[in-house]
Amino acid sequence: MSKKILVTGATGNIAGFTIPQIIDGGATIHAYVRNADKASHLAELGAILFEGDFSDQEALNRAAEGVDAVLAITPAGPEAIEQGKVVLSAALNSGSPYYVRLSAIGAAPDAPTENGRLHYESDKAVMESGLRYTILRPHFFMQNIFGNLETIKAEGKMYLGMGDGKLGMIDVRDIADSFAAILLNGGHENEIYTPTGPESITFTDAASIITDGLGKQVDYVPIPVEAVGEFILKAGWGEWGAQVMMDYSKAYSEGWGDFINDDVKTITGNKARGFKQFFDEVLSSAL
Ligand SMILES: NC(=O)c1ccc[n+]([C@@H]2O[C@H](COP(=O)([O-])OP(=O)(O)OC[C@H]3O[C@@H](n4cnc5c(N)ncnc54)[C@H](OP(=O)(O)O)[C@@H]3O)[C@@H](O)[C@H]2O)c1
Repeated sequence: MSKKILVTGATGNIAGFTIPQIIDGGATIHAYVRNADKASHLAELGAILFEGDFSDQEALNRAAEGVDAVLAITPAGPEAIEQGKVVLSAALNSGSPYYVRLSAIGAAPDAPTENGRLHYESDKAVMESGLRYTILRPHFFMQNIFGNLETIKAEGKMYLGMGDGKLGMIDVRDIADSFAAILLNGGHENEIYTPTGPESITFTDAASIITDGLGKQVDYVPIPVEAVGEFILKAGWGEWGAQVMMDYSKAYSEGWGDFINDDVKTITGNKARGFKQFFDEVLSSAL
């Protein structure tokens, strides 16, 4: 009988790359979405849609009924702990499914960002729940650069507050491949990983890869963290998002993200994709 897997945050970045792979691998997907109209592509793949908000425990309980595993993805935000609890309660209510959770780089009680501190609390609740679990705490997503598309196209510049900090940034596709391997093949129970890309690079390095690939000059322009906060506020992400992005920018500019590891290879058997591959296969077509 095919495995049944509940995926929350199913219309988001990572689930978008993970769900097709787990369906191809023979699993049945319960996709938890807050707006079924945005999820018709998932229904077309064969996923069963369950509509609801993260505040709706009963809707999540229905989505989790009879599943063998849960892929718990919740957004970054001030309500993260409560949202994490609702997903975990739904899992516990349904029996004892294998619980696979998306957390964030450096999740810890003393993490430099509120996002990392909240993720730590949700990770801890999972570890103490008695469920079998695997937690991924990925590095900075290469796909975050899509937030800079407008100025790259208009001015040939990307404005970020990371100074000369190096980051072992990761292609979201490698996080999705890791989740698919974990859910389909098992073998990582009660492990926590911090998947990274294959190289630790500055945004000057990233701009140079984009320049070479496009054949057009693109520069990274470091800006003060306060300017990052103003940009995030203008983009409508609110005070919480602005503070988190300022704190990440400060930490990364001080070298907090300057590390890589082989977690993607350990989980998937394949080397993680580098920034050049990300540019060639993903970013270039958007520029
Ligand atoms: N960006 C990074 O560099 C980075 C690095 C490490 C970890 N992370 C972590 O990655 C996670 C985000 O993953 P992602 O990028 O795949 O997600 P995403 O693209 O931000 O999507 C969030 C998902 O959650 C859904 N959602 C939001 N609020 C909801 C609500 N109130 N009720 C029900 N559903 C709701 C969204 O639905 P709609 O489509 O309807 O909006 C969407 O499906 C965060 O926890 C973040 O901390 C990010």
